[in-house]
Amino acid sequence: MKIHGKHYRTIWTNDDGWSVEIIDQTLLPHKFETVTLRSADAAAHAIRSMQVRGAPLIGATAAYGICLALRNDPSDEALDGTYEMLLQTRPTAINLKWALDDMRDHLRNRPHAERVAAAYERAAKICDDDVEICRRIGENAATIIKEIAAKKTDTSPVNILTHCNAGWLATVDWGTALAPIYMAHDAGIPVHVWVDETRPRNQGASLTAYELGAHGVSHAIIADNVGGHLMQHGQVDMCIVGTDRTTAHGDVANKIGTYLKALAAHDNGVPFYVALPHTTIDWTVGDGVTEIPIEERGPEEVTQMTGRTPDGGVVTVDIAAPGSPAANYAFDVTPARLVTALITERGVTDASKEGLARLYPELAS
Ligand code: MRU
Repeated sequence: MKIHGKHYRTIWTNDDGWSVEIIDQTLLPHKFETVTLRSADAAAHAIRSMQVRGAPLIGATAAYGICLALRNDPSDEALDGTYEMLLQTRPTAINLKWALDDMRDHLRNRPHAERVAAAYERAAKICDDDVEICRRIGENAATIIKEIAAKKTDTSPVNILTHCNAGWLATVDWGTALAPIYMAHDAGIPVHVWVDETRPRNQGASLTAYELGAHGVSHAIIADNVGGHLMQHGQVDMCIVGTDRTTAHGDVANKIGTYLKALAAHDNGVPFYVALPHTTIDWTVGDGVTEIPIEERGPEEVTQMTGRTPDGGVVTVDIAAPGSPAANYAFDVTPARLVTALITERGVTDASKEGLARLYPELAS
């Protein structure tokens, strides 16, 4: 997608042929700056500190983390050690493990002398595949937006509610949940997006609104508690979110607060869609609520907020009394029964074991 008229992906290799550039998402929307990763430790830091975030982009960054490690030491020990180190960076998004497994399987039986080149080639393929997969998810989900638009009897836009950021910044390009919104908008379908602010890290207010604004898509940031009210008043035609891990049975882990939106959607007859690539499906997990590890982050993300001051500076302030304790669960799980459909690069299915197995017979066990 474009920033100030220039096309960017969220991750790329530099002209030196080995160092890796990322957009520092912790600074958005106040500053657009890139960071150069020169080591696996730097890649791990980028994932942990959320300079990069979003399940597919976390996976892509980890893949390049393996490349950076092997440049220094192409041994099996380095490969396994870096795999383990990167795997610990964030617990919920399964694309991290998927990408690390893919890299290790691809490199394991190669001679050491070939490993670095093979690793960079594979990481680039993971990125290119992610772009194509997201494009296809976008096409498949845009069909649903077009159908809703066609049924409208007035001139109102298709009102879409989304939570967190599942746009191009969460992937290598296009995004998952936002890809169809860009495509529908580009095709001339009037769309309007309700953007959940997504406390505590504000991925909606800081990233989704930034992306949509840059692309000229009509949107409004809403406090996290507003969605239910809008749905009760007929102001949401559909919800669409991304996911960090979807089980073989169709339960969906996503940013904390997603479950409450799905409940409100269910109560109000609003369709609730989840857009995902196959790399987000964890075929080993049955019940998402009890089996998916939920990341718990530092309490300061809840007790503080960061924002821009009138002079353009960026400051972090306390919003709670000194010493107030806080709990910070980063994800929740929406049971399959609340999901209208899963939208993948292979098509749309009900959120069920059978539905996912029909789309991915070679992966479902
Ligand atoms: O903690 P984050 O910002 O990495 O979480 C990302 C999300 O939860 C997104 O909503 C997203 O849907 C998953 S990635 C497309």
